[in-house]
Amino acid sequence: MASDANGSTREIFLSDVIGGLSKSRKRLEPKYFYDARGAELFNQICQLDAYYPTRTETGILDTNADDIAHYLGTDAVLVEYGAGSLEKVRILLDAISNPVALIAVDISADQLDRAANDVRAAYPELEVLHVAADFTRPVDLPEPARVGGNPVVFFPGSTIGNFDPDDAIEFMVGARDTVGPGGMLLIGVDLKKDSARLEIAYDDPAGVTAAFNLNLLTRINRELGGDFDLDTFNHVARYNTNLGRIEMHLKSTKAQTVTINGQPFDFAEGETIHTENSYKYSIEEFQALAERAGFKPMQVWTDAENLFAVHLFKVAADTS
Ligand code: AVI
Repeated sequence: MASDANGSTREIFLSDVIGGLSKSRKRLEPKYFYDARGAELFNQICQLDAYYPTRTETGILDTNADDIAHYLGTDAVLVEYGAGSLEKVRILLDAISNPVALIAVDISADQLDRAANDVRAAYPELEVLHVAADFTRPVDLPEPARVGGNPVVFFPGSTIGNFDPDDAIEFMVGARDTVGPGGMLLIGVDLKKDSARLEIAYDDPAGVTAAFNLNLLTRINRELGGDFDLDTFNHVARYNTNLGRIEMHLKSTKAQTVTINGQPFDFAEGETIHTENSYKYSIEEFQALAERAGFKPMQVWTDAENLFAVHLFKVAADTS
C-alpha cells in the first residue's frame, strides 16, 4: 500500500478502521502501522537492545548461511514477503551460488523502492523485481526473465507471528502455490520464552514501540480525518500465555468520544483498541502448522539462547 492513502486504498483503510472500531472489542489491523513514519519506527525497533528478534535472526542466517545455501541449491529464485529494508536477504544472496532473481513484496512502497534499488546496484547480475502490495492477501507476482532453479519464499522477521494461526496457514498455502512442486519456504519464527523477556521487547524503555503503536492514531487523524488525542491513549503490551501471543493495545485513559470521517466512536475509561498479535511458536508447533499448509520440514536453525528459529520447508510431495 502506498504510504499516503489515496483513491481506493483510502476507502479500504477507512472501511477497515470503521469496521474495527465498531466491534464490541475494538480492533485495528497491524498492517496499517506501516506508513512512512511507521516503517521508520519499525526500523528503529529492530535496532533496540530489548527487541532481540532482528539481530538474533540475522545471527542465525549469518552463522548458517553456507548450510542454508546448500539446501536452496544453485540458481535459486527468491520471493521475499515483508521485504522491508532487504538487509537479511543479502546474507542469502552472498551465500547462494548464482541466484537468478529476487522478487520483493512489501506493503511500504517508499522503503521498498529504495531498498530494491540498493540491491540492484549491489548485485548487478541479479534480476530484482519489486511489488508494493498488501501480502496478507494474494498478490500477482511478476515473472523473472530467466528460468531459475528452486523457487524459494523467504519470509523473515517472524512476521508470520502477526497472523492468527488460521491466517498463517492460509498464507503458507499461498506460498506453497507460489513456489509450486520442488519449491521451498524459508521462514523466521519467534520462539516461546518467558513473558518478562517478551514484554520488554514489545514495551521497550526508550518508548519506540509505544511511538510505533500510537503512530497508527496519528495516521488515522491525518489520512481519515480523525481527532484522536494522542495524550489520552497509552501503549500496552502483554503476553497472553494461554494463546502464546504478545498482544498490543492502545488504552484510553478516560471516557471520551473520538470522531473519524464524521463518525463518532465512544471509549470508556480503560477501554482498549487491540492493534497487534505477535504469536510465538515452539519448533514443533510451527512445524505442525506448516504441515497443515502442505509443507514438509527439512531443517531448522536456532541461536544458542533458543530465542528464535529459522525453518526450512519443502512442498510436500502429495500436495504437488
Ligand atoms: C513485524 N513484526 C514481526 C513485529 C513483531 O515482532 O511482531 C512487529 C512489532 N510490533 C512491535 N514490535 C515489533
